[in-house]
Amino acid sequence: MEIDHKAFLDSLGGAEGVKRLDDEARADALESHMMSELNGAIAAKKSGEAQPPKKYPTVAEVEAQIETRPYRAGVGFLMVPRTGGNVKRLAPMPANPTLADFFKLRFADTANHVLQSANLAKKNGMSEEIVLACLLHDVVQEIMRTDHGWWGAQLFEPYVSEKVTFAIRYHQALRYYADPSVGYEYPDLYRELFGADYVPPPYIEATYQMVRKHKWYMEPRMVAVNDLYAFDPNVVVTIEPFLDIIGRHFKQPKEGLGNDGSPVAHMWRTISRPDQPL
Ligand SMILES: [Fe+2]
Ligand SMILES: [Fe+2]
Repeated sequence: MEIDHKAFLDSLGGAEGVKRLDDEARADALESHMMSELNGAIAAKKSGEAQPPKKYPTVAEVEAQIETRPYRAGVGFLMVPRTGGNVKRLAPMPANPTLADFFKLRFADTANHVLQSANLAKKNGMSEEIVLACLLHDVVQEIMRTDHGWWGAQLFEPYVSEKVTFAIRYHQALRYYADPSVGYEYPDLYRELFGADYVPPPYIEATYQMVRKHKWYMEPRMVAVNDLYAFDPNVVVTIEPFLDIIGRHFKQPKEGLGNDGSPVAHMWRTISRPDQPL
């Protein structure tokens, strides 16, 4: 997807405004900007309507919004839709829900992006484990966005290999660090947004240093490589082409996700029944 760099920069209050944003917040603003652009573009394509150009708030407006919003920016898309208006009643889940059921019935705001990432990884000849990691890497943002790499890895830990959770957990940190050996340059857009003197927060830097030396470094790196160029509104991918890979690498519990008594079953039940208080 083409991002209008200047418009996005202006929307954040220009170079001065961008400096005032925490680095993680800037990266997240960009990621959610791209994700909503993609969803908007796909919706427009389906309805055949042209989308009016979007107006984004300045940094000062974003900061001022914190105390006017009834929710925190870290809360997931399923919990608080960003489109405004009331939430809609969700379709019921099957009794023993599978990963594919969650894709179809609960991952409305993240499915396009992760399916496109997985599709690209497959086209690029990645291993099945990397394709699966790409397919799963951002879906936890339906319930929680803050530190989504770590939350996402935890959500899938009982069902996939350690390599896949390693890739999911650490893709969040690697997006800031170039690796020309695999054609991952530090994005020009980040340079424009963060400045040449950009220093990630200490926990991200420490995580990067650890992962860089790890024998599985390439796993999260390949998620980052296939993540960056995955926003194409003209590509609509469904879960079906990935069912084989899911079948081979995802230990689907026969009782259904959320009913299996695993240490993360409550997270799946939360996604299934987000309208259930307590
Ligand atoms: Fe991500
Ligand atoms: Fe992503």
